[in-house]
Amino acid sequence: MESVCLYEGKAKRIFKTGDPDVLRIAYKDDATAFNGEKMEVLEGKGRLNNEISSLIFERLQEAGLDSHFIERISETEQLVRPVEIVPLEVVVRNIAAGSLVKRLGVKRGYAFETPIVEFYYKDDELGDPLLNEAHIAALKLAEPEELKQMQEMALRVNEKLLHLFSESGVDLVDFKIEFGRREGKILLADEISPDTCRLWDQKTGDSFDKDLFRFSQGNLQDGYKMILQRLGGRKS
Ligand code: C5P
Repeated sequence: MESVCLYEGKAKRIFKTGDPDVLRIAYKDDATAFNGEKMEVLEGKGRLNNEISSLIFERLQEAGLDSHFIERISETEQLVRPVEIVPLEVVVRNIAAGSLVKRLGVKRGYAFETPIVEFYYKDDELGDPLLNEAHIAALKLAEPEELKQMQEMALRVNEKLLHLFSESGVDLVDFKIEFGRREGKILLADEISPDTCRLWDQKTGDSFDKDLFRFSQGNLQDGYKMILQRLGGRKS
């Protein structure tokens, strides 16, 4: 039976399964940056992101962080619970890089004493603008209690990932996560991979993340393979 595609995003397709409580996500090899302005097909990227994101969600679940993730079922696919996505991108920053450097003039590489949590409106047409709590309340994007929960969960994810990556000799510079609502609960959703994190080698400062593609700094797959290896995933 042909499965029904519910949604096609820049990097993934989401399909129905026979069970209404289970969806299948298939990762694509497409790489996009700057809101879709730069686009390329990079062979093997889907497999790498699926494997890395699955491994990270497994570690987070072991640490008691609830997510939509059920299991990885193939090189490029995983099963997840359906959620209603909260239209916010939650960014946590440990080290200054990317848009924060441009916006605030802080030197790239400056390590913050405490992590910074930011919220962006998930809206491609508006270019995902930065929001504060008043904007989120005014636009009714999330309840104040939900926002508090997302902020707390984001910081817990950060603690766990900082530890996981630093054990592998990698600095977690910043990352973006998304949340969904399911049965009255807020769950971590979407993916966590080098597409959504900045990851720097602690010794050399080299990037192992999507900046390789964004700024044509090197081979994206080589960087992602390095992350998978360092997290204890497959070697090839
Ligand atoms: O671009 P910026 O510096 O705000 O990105 C912060 C972090 O969020 C980076 O790790 C980036 O990869 C991630 N991000 C993302 N998707 C977006 C915007 C940012 O994964 N739409």
